[in-house]
Amino acid sequence: MRWLGSCLLAGAAIVAGAPLAWLSHGAEEPAAPPPAPPQEFELRGAGSCAAAACHNGNGPRGSKGSEYTTWVTHDPHARAVEVLYDKRSQRIEKNRKRPREVDENHPESDPLCLNCHVQPGIETYLSQTRKLPRRDTFSLDDGVSCEACHGAAGGWLTQHYTDTWRGLKPEEKDAQGMRNTRDLRVRAELCVRCHVGEGDLDVNHDLIAAGHPRLNFEYSAFLANVPKHWNEEKDRAGRRDFEARVWAIGQAVSARVSLELLAHRADPGNRRQRWPEFAEYDCFACHHNLAPKSWRSDPANVRRRLTTPAWNTWYLSPALAALSRAQAEGKPDPLEKQVAEVRTAMSFFASNRADAARAAGEAAQALAKWISGLETTRYDAARVKPLVSALESGIDKDLHECNWDQAMQYYLALAAMRQSLSDQDLPQVPGTRREYLADLRAKLGFPRGYDSPRGLDPATLPKK
Ligand code: HEC
Ligand code: HEC
Ligand code: HEC
Ligand code: HEC
Repeated sequence: MRWLGSCLLAGAAIVAGAPLAWLSHGAEEPAAPPPAPPQEFELRGAGSCAAAACHNGNGPRGSKGSEYTTWVTHDPHARAVEVLYDKRSQRIEKNRKRPREVDENHPESDPLCLNCHVQPGIETYLSQTRKLPRRDTFSLDDGVSCEACHGAAGGWLTQHYTDTWRGLKPEEKDAQGMRNTRDLRVRAELCVRCHVGEGDLDVNHDLIAAGHPRLNFEYSAFLANVPKHWNEEKDRAGRRDFEARVWAIGQAVSARVSLELLAHRADPGNRRQRWPEFAEYDCFACHHNLAPKSWRSDPANVRRRLTTPAWNTWYLSPALAALSRAQAEGKPDPLEKQVAEVRTAMSFFASNRADAARAAGEAAQALAKWISGLETTRYDAARVKPLVSALESGIDKDLHECNWDQAMQYYLALAAMRQSLSDQDLPQVPGTRREYLADLRAKLGFPRGYDSPRGLDPATLPKK
């Protein structure tokens, strides 16, 4: 049984494809040839990878030479533009616009949507050049395709199968535009651009209230769930601590990027952004049933003040705090103070944009520095045990004060640790026991018909 993810990722329906129309962008030719695009937009399109002799060998899922086949058949990314044609997207688009704009309700050509459902920045490229990168092989309808992760292929498409190319170092390939997806940090940094957000690529509360799913990315769960068009054994070879490392790197990278996003949201010059931004806060602080008696109004359960929603309980959860405590090995924890400063600046009623932007920017820089140390950590027995203990003692202390976000982050952390202990033939501990995790997961799952943990009472969460 896979332990990661499925309550988080439940129910992404993939609709089988009606033929998709070309978008109007392709139709118009510019009067003069556009200037050469910057490297990141030298896109060749999934069509250029799709020859049978290249990556479309029609072999079994995940086999070498059938990467395109696997992606197009199994990967939700290949459907990412198709969803923009469906009713749900129409509704999002309608809700987020003013009534007079509703006639132009075309999510499939809305720049905001395309930037994440195709490729970050694609719309800037389209509006500047007024044509697709390559009409023969590039189609927006391919959704999130090869180059969104591997990098624009203009600089390497015609060489990357040669022996000379294979002999190059990852940095040399990167200089030509091919990203080093084998590196777990680089890989995480690719996912978070769309799954956490970057600058104006933002699923904020306006978009969520309009009907967009909330983005709660967690690297180990999402990586476990993405259909693999590569050899997983080879990916894990020489990395027995793969699972723990993915979890730790994912926590750090996601937190850094969420702080950068906050700095952008808070920037007083960012006039399109409302303030305070509700998506920065605990959703259920506002969206809960009003009842005369509830766990939230019992001071025995909750140390913080009840009058303000808590800030960023997903990306800066107690599980990340446990990681930074374990990583500090008894020395002062470098993240604690920095994150506390952002939390103070984000206290709901006092939150001042400029202060929040400054504090978030500084904390993001501190995290960036911290990540470069974390990256070289190997989670062998000597390292993974203290990490598991830090998570276990955290969950003992916090679980009954947790909201869903925090409890889910603990669950995902312990599930990753369970896998890592087992991969390294190390004994499980009480917090990673199968029965305990199954129990926790059942409690955190959403009831049928709900997109949220209806009525979750942390007092009922199981003790380890
Ligand atoms: C910051 C990037 C980003 C932006 C901007 C964005 N999306 Fe998304 N969207 C995503 C991601 C990532 C997912 C997958 C969420 C998940 O499952 O965690 C998603 C999921 C969806 C889904 C659900 C798909 C499914 O299979 O359940 C719909 C519908 C959707 N987006 C429509 C839109 C529309 C319409 C717009 C423009 C108004 C838009 N999105 C803008 C990143 C984005
Ligand atoms: C969501 C991101 C993503 C998308 C989209 C994607 N890939 Fe990958 N790809 C990866 C990751 C991550 C790996 C595993 C790491 C590695 O081996 O580089 C990988 C591995 C590969 C490998 C194996 C590399 C090796 O050295 O073994 C090939 C070949 C490949 N992808 C081709 C493609 C093609 C062709 C497409 C489009 C049809 C595609 N990928 C789409 C992320 C992606
Ligand atoms: C260019 C933007 C982009 C990038 C880069 C990207 N994704 Fe996605 N991803 C999306 C969108 C959009 C969806 C929603 C597709 C849909 O449901 O139709 C999605 C869906 C997913 C899903 C399915 C989610 C669900 O609810 O079932 C997983 C898992 C996933 N992505 C993992 C990853 C991982 C891992 C990486 C990095 C290696 C990555 N993605 C990189 C945009 C992106
Ligand atoms: C500070 C309070 C506050 C926070 C925090 C907050 N919301 Fe909202 N939310 C509102 C208000 C106010 C509305 C609009 C009123 C309405 O439509 O009922 C709203 C509307 C919505 C709607 C559309 C209306 C509905 O009930 O379907 C959704 C969905 C939603 N919020 C989801 C979220 C999610 C997910 C989060 C966390 C990421 C969140 N909200 C955080 C106050 C908040």
